[in-house]
Amino acid sequence: MLALMAVSKRGDTIAIEAPTYFGVLHTLEVLGLKALELPTHPTHGVNIAALARVLDTGPVAACVLSSTFNNPLGSAMVEADKRALLALLARRAVPLIEDDVYGDIHFGRERPKPFIALDGGANTIYCSSFSKTLAPGYRVGWIAPGAYTQRVMERKLAFSLCNPILPQIAITDFLANGAYDAHLRRLRRLLEENISRMTRAIEESFPSDTKVSRPAGGFMIWVELPRRFDSRALFDAALEQGICFAPGDVFSASRRFRNCLRLSAGSEWSDRIEDGVRRLGLLSRNLIAGSTSLA
Ligand SMILES: Cc1ncc(COP(=O)(O)O)c(C=O)c1O
Repeated sequence: MLALMAVSKRGDTIAIEAPTYFGVLHTLEVLGLKALELPTHPTHGVNIAALARVLDTGPVAACVLSSTFNNPLGSAMVEADKRALLALLARRAVPLIEDDVYGDIHFGRERPKPFIALDGGANTIYCSSFSKTLAPGYRVGWIAPGAYTQRVMERKLAFSLCNPILPQIAITDFLANGAYDAHLRRLRRLLEENISRMTRAIEESFPSDTKVSRPAGGFMIWVELPRRFDSRALFDAALEQGICFAPGDVFSASRRFRNCLRLSAGSEWSDRIEDGVRRLGLLSRNLIAGSTSLA
């Protein structure tokens, strides 16, 4: 919110990933900004050629990306692509707002470098938090606004002066005694295991032509069903059985991806969760069978 306010004004256009985290869409809406959706590959992330075409067509005030790892896709841009994207944005003087909340939850050996490590912050505003690695309720995050520091500080002061101190002291203690690294190693292993268990449950229970993402980090799974599938109808039916998930269209400003859904593998694995996923699979098969028999 602060980063967007520092680089744009009401009515401006902001380039975003599609699909993207619905919180970004909500913020754009509240600030009166227009979303311009960039095609985003489930493995490789944003399509740079598409971004170049977009920048040729009209003014873009900023680009907001969560490229390691996208929520909901779990995709990650490789370093060469990140460098190419940074070069393109720098040539056009379009600032990049980087949302790196999932960066520490990588399944590969090395933590992928964030954009800010590649351009030294020349054109990047970096945002992250402990919401995904420790707890969302602490509300402790950080921003490295580079050239926009003054503007961001003015807006932060106007909104809330500063954040509560006690959670910050608690986290500082945790970081200082070295526990965070050990915690992250354990968390990555657990989440990767959750993802593979959930993927197996999906593959065994959903319709056979279902596609499942292979996240490189984070804890989200993106499930794509045939075009005609309605994840909103599935949502209503699932909720009646006490099962919740995010329907695909909430990740798009233009309400695309209605045939997709996002499942979170962030909770501790249990028979209850496995049963919920399998029942979701059964409901999906029933919905598809119902819609074909009605057609
Ligand atoms: C991509 C992304 N950015 C930001 C957030 C919210 O982070 P915070 O709790 O630090 O506001 C989320 C939470 O789901 C997210 O998925």
